[in-house]
Amino acid sequence: MINPRIARGFRGPGGGAWGVITPPPTFRGSSKQVCGLWPYSGASSRPALGVPVGQDIMTGSTVCCDPLTWFKHGLASSPSMLVLGLQGLGKSSFTVRQILGLADQGVIPLVLGDMKPDYADVIRALGGQIIRLGEGQCLNVLDPGAMGMAADRIGGERGEVLHEQALQRAVMLVTTLIQIMRRARLDDWEESLVARAVRILRDRHRGGTPPSLPDLAAIFASPPQELIRAALVADAEEFVTTTRGVARSLQALMEGSLGLTFSGQTTERIRLDAPGVCIDVSPIRRHSEDVKAAILMSTWSEGYASIEAANALAEAGLEPQRHFLSVMDEMWEAMRIEGAGLVDKLDGVTRLNRSDGVGNIFITHSLKDMESMSSAADARKARGFAERSSIIVTAGLAMDDLRALSEVKRMSENEMRTVASWSTPAGWKQKMIRTSTGMLRPAPPPGAGKVLIKLGERAGIQTQVKLTQAEFDLHDTNARWLQEAER
Ligand SMILES: Nc1ncnc2c1ncn2[C@@H]1O[C@H](COP(=O)(O)OP(=O)(O)OP(=O)(O)O)[C@@H](O)[C@H]1O
Ligand SMILES: [Mg+2]
Repeated sequence: MINPRIARGFRGPGGGAWGVITPPPTFRGSSKQVCGLWPYSGASSRPALGVPVGQDIMTGSTVCCDPLTWFKHGLASSPSMLVLGLQGLGKSSFTVRQILGLADQGVIPLVLGDMKPDYADVIRALGGQIIRLGEGQCLNVLDPGAMGMAADRIGGERGEVLHEQALQRAVMLVTTLIQIMRRARLDDWEESLVARAVRILRDRHRGGTPPSLPDLAAIFASPPQELIRAALVADAEEFVTTTRGVARSLQALMEGSLGLTFSGQTTERIRLDAPGVCIDVSPIRRHSEDVKAAILMSTWSEGYASIEAANALAEAGLEPQRHFLSVMDEMWEAMRIEGAGLVDKLDGVTRLNRSDGVGNIFITHSLKDMESMSSAADARKARGFAERSSIIVTAGLAMDDLRALSEVKRMSENEMRTVASWSTPAGWKQKMIRTSTGMLRPAPPPGAGKVLIKLGERAGIQTQVKLTQAEFDLHDTNARWLQEAER
């Protein structure tokens, strides 16, 4: 029996008390659209700062979030976001939403090393540049690239400083690549000889075609007097014997699948005026870890050099100041490559991004990917990313992973239980959905698009990301599972 004092409902014939009042349908809209509906509209308590990423599961209000806007408005201490979650629960889709929203505000997305590729179609749709690597296309690691071009345009003392930075970057990259091949560090004297050789080559090639790795190998085979003197040896013969280790490593870099990428002039340089850049490295996905490490390292270096060049041009008043969003997806691939110096490089990236005008989104499965490294120092540094990422977003994760995460960012038991439940289907019933073209496909798992957005120590915002048809069309990593519907 319903208590008549609290019973509500229509009076009259057919009316009566309702035990459960169904909530009225709610709609979202901009204040410009809904102001005419007074007094039925209500505002969200959270500021609408950032890209609208979804709907708050608890309150139904719109959730806005992206690392750059939250940083610019003082909500986050650095413009970096770490996205964690089990496979296929919508980490990349959530990132695509932020890319699209930020691109609309003029932020340039840079996907430096797209392994699947997840982002090529999105960047193409934005009118951006797609550079494919690994199928015969080349990347010349000694090419001063965007930095060299910026240095030429700026000229004078500042231009010289930039040329020098481009040179240092090339040296750093070559030495790291040798380290990846050797799985060991170069000796200090070897490193300074590589630096000297690269400098000699730069002076020789100034104004002409940039030097490349075969030129560097050639200079180690027949060294000029300057290099012989720098090595503190008597003659060319002794030089060749002493530096055989470096020469062998250079040779290894120019052979096999890496040789195809590193032995020629850069096929396509990053364009600084492109509305977005995606370096698609999917052809190397199934190659050895060394190859992946070497190519990822080079694309990161190339990308960050382009950002420095854009910043230098803006400082010189030659170009407007641009902001970038760097997306590093499938980070677990890079994390697994031990002793390759990738962790160090990433460590540097996350420390620098504020001053470079770059926002970062790192995506990986769980913190365990980072802790599985055999080097304790690497594991510590990798953990540091999570600590420094102001915004941590988790899609469905296993309880163990959540406990590990809560040691870095405090999470309540309730939050952990909720996120863990997103990775479990509600029942055993088979679920398929029909697409707009009449095909059948597996329904997204129940946790798809559910993310918990944590900022510092605050309670997380449970958000449901709802993809638009355009987003589905641009980024459908399940496209291969489409099947004809039975008639
Ligand atoms: N918010 C969402 N609503 C409905 N379906 C979604 C949503 N987000 C993702 N999906 C579906 O799940 C699939 C996988 O999404 P996505 O590639 O973003 O996951 P992921 O977590 O990046 O996966 P991986 O770990 O394999 O990289 C997409 O193709 C899409 O069909
Ligand atoms: Mg993904």
